[in-house]
Amino acid sequence: MSSLSERPANPVVGHPIPHEAADLHVTGRALYTDDLVGRTKDCLHAWPVQAPHAHAAVTRIDTSPALDVEGVVRVLSADDVPGVNDAGVKHDEPLFPTEAMFYGHAIVWVLGETLEAARLGAAAIEIDYEPLPSLMTAREAIAAEAFQGAQPHMERGDIDRGLQDAAHVFHGEFEFKGQEHFYLETHCALAMVDENGQIFVQSSTQHPSETQEIVAHVLGLHSHEVTVQCLRMGGGFGGKEMQPHGLAAIAALGSVLTGRPVRLRLNRTLDMSMTGKRHGFHTQWRVGFDADGSLVALDATLTADGGWSLDLSEPVLARAVCHIDNAYWIPNVRVNGRIARTNKTSQTAFRGFGGPQGMLVIEDILGRCAPLLGKDPADLRRQNLYGPDQTTPYGQPVRQWDRLERAWEQVVTDGDITRRQQEVARFNATHADSKRGLALTPVKFGISFNLTAFNQGGALVLVYKDGSVLINHGGTEMGQGLHTKMLQVAATALGVPLTTVRLAPTRTDKVPNTSATAASSGTDLNGGAIKNACEQIKERLTQVASQHFGVSPADIRFEDGVVSAIGSRAEPMLWADLTQRAYFQRVQLSAAGYYRTEGLHWDSSIMQGEPFKYFANGVAAAEVEVDGFTGAYRTRRVDIVHDVGESLSPLVDIGQIEGGFVQGAGWMTLEELVWDESDRPTRGKLATQAASTYKLPSFSEMPEVFNVALLEQAHEEGAVYGSKAVGEPPLMLAFSVREALRQAAAAFGAPGGSVELGLPATPEAVFWAIEDARSGRTDGGMERGSRAQQHVPDQPGPDAHPMHPRSEELASEPAKA
Ligand code: MTE
Ligand code: MOS
Repeated sequence: MSSLSERPANPVVGHPIPHEAADLHVTGRALYTDDLVGRTKDCLHAWPVQAPHAHAAVTRIDTSPALDVEGVVRVLSADDVPGVNDAGVKHDEPLFPTEAMFYGHAIVWVLGETLEAARLGAAAIEIDYEPLPSLMTAREAIAAEAFQGAQPHMERGDIDRGLQDAAHVFHGEFEFKGQEHFYLETHCALAMVDENGQIFVQSSTQHPSETQEIVAHVLGLHSHEVTVQCLRMGGGFGGKEMQPHGLAAIAALGSVLTGRPVRLRLNRTLDMSMTGKRHGFHTQWRVGFDADGSLVALDATLTADGGWSLDLSEPVLARAVCHIDNAYWIPNVRVNGRIARTNKTSQTAFRGFGGPQGMLVIEDILGRCAPLLGKDPADLRRQNLYGPDQTTPYGQPVRQWDRLERAWEQVVTDGDITRRQQEVARFNATHADSKRGLALTPVKFGISFNLTAFNQGGALVLVYKDGSVLINHGGTEMGQGLHTKMLQVAATALGVPLTTVRLAPTRTDKVPNTSATAASSGTDLNGGAIKNACEQIKERLTQVASQHFGVSPADIRFEDGVVSAIGSRAEPMLWADLTQRAYFQRVQLSAAGYYRTEGLHWDSSIMQGEPFKYFANGVAAAEVEVDGFTGAYRTRRVDIVHDVGESLSPLVDIGQIEGGFVQGAGWMTLEELVWDESDRPTRGKLATQAASTYKLPSFSEMPEVFNVALLEQAHEEGAVYGSKAVGEPPLMLAFSVREALRQAAAAFGAPGGSVELGLPATPEAVFWAIEDARSGRTDGGMERGSRAQQHVPDQPGPDAHPMHPRSEELASEPAKA
């Protein structure tokens, strides 16, 4: 066992305790950034002027009418920016643009004494536009060759040989939509300036250090003049990783120019129409199987719909490319990635960060191909899982392949799958107008930032004379329970009860140069840093105790707030007495901790290396029932076994698995982003910008039976106290729901048929799949075995319709079966 992963006797980690702020959340006492406004005197409010065009040059701005509106204090525009007029780090996101790049793009901002004054002021501003041609879909961008950023290429083996030798070859395409984060707390920033001109911004940000950096560059200041604090977020889900920065910069600029605090909070419509979402993708692929149904080759082109600027599209795409294998061994692989530039919000991080999009491609392929290979989809998946001595297409060994297998077997046993498969078959044979489906899907998700530099964390631990402990770390809390785990880690490392430790909100003046709380790595990085800081302090205290007890430091024990010496007859002493004693001996009682993930290497130019510390594994089984008249469905039962290593906080982890799964099921089955793709003046407008039109999962969509188990004997050597990251991987367990829907829809047709299913698999999409099954269009929307065509075609077929894509008739060339 490594010293990082080893647990002491009676650790506080591992206890199933509630979220550290659960009582505050449920009683409404928890403070979010916007709750501070009522406690802040003389606050101004900000409101944007949004462009009513998908793409247009700004030809004239007259802000003067706004100043005639009562309560308007100031208008902010490009001329006011003392530093860099950019909201990002790639300098492709002007904060005050001269060209509207999407419908709803904020051109200027108005500050008012009240929100209403700011809003009326914004309405009074006159802006003239010259409309420009716009691209609304990845397809349109592909046709126009409108790409941005790097185009990664990953290759292993010999793809041409692989496809040539394959017994079965299929090719097809798949276009799927993104997802709105719909965090309950919308974006918010509150900025103020102190007497020295130092800026203090409270922001709903997952990445305070980057918010600080961008506020500083917009204002032309250094980082030490700007402090960013995040109390907590009401959900981030990746949507607050890059998107808060420009908003914080607007608030800070307003505060500098007026000398007053400025609050900028987006309401739901502003948030949905202005901020980035999960990337939709367009994908094209060719896949080869051997005569037994084992995968032998996959050739794919992934085109991420990036929206108007790069934002995080490059790393999102890289993660998609690195997850196209999901949990399956594919000897010959070639994947090309590119980012379409479209006139939409700039798409960004969202739980899974491209991983779900990559994995969806192979899960969709297996779901479509299984019936045509004469295989049960669960058998096909099981057969292709990684085994011993195999590596991913980017060269990382899959060391814990056995965990995938164990999780699979446990789901099969605990979920009573064999009996229920027979039950589903019986049900389907006896019900003409409703059908059931039961699907199993695995997850293997790489943990660490692909960009190696981000894999570091910092902490500041303060022990006061009275023995009480205050911890700070670089991670932010968004409901995921990071702070709960950090309290448990500190209490474990110091050997004190949980109540001895408190936690202070995340601030850039406590811990500098932090990474985003993202990539599910918050606990690994900050937990490592907190443990390191605590151990520095404990080492000093051990010296004090060893003198006191007259024993060797190796014989000092800290447990539950009591310090004792093995082999000494002296009375054990209280932790607080030891800290008091240490203070009088002038022993330092605080420490800065640091952690960096060891053993990572990654060459993005060739997409090879070991970018991940380890993989999180899981398996889910979902059973659904579909109504043949409407396509409506419900999820009858879900069984999950998921690998969180040795859990630091089981209640938190189970909550993350349940929440991630439901959020994933929302993306895959309900939530549909609809942009106006017509040529009307509203082209580019997001039609689904409220909860009334954007359907989120709620209690009624919860599985009727929902069993979640943590994989046992899952100690992780490479992470703090043997645990594993949990935040994102469970989202992808929801592939099982979509695959179950596919199977249920196919059951309306003749046995052995394959159906294509849209994403999201809304009742409408399921209905179309049922119609396909009934009318015998059961080729899975794919073409078979055109071996002559060695490359993925660059252009999508003209026949394909994005909502209900169809390819042509079954290709004339027969499969080489
Ligand atoms: N859970 C809740 N309740 N709210 C959130 O916003 N974000 C998810 C996940 N779980 C999120 C959540 C995302 S996208 C990530 S990357 C991780 O939490 C980040 O936190 P961690 O690194 O501490 O797991
Ligand atoms: Mo999570 S998408 O990495 O914030």
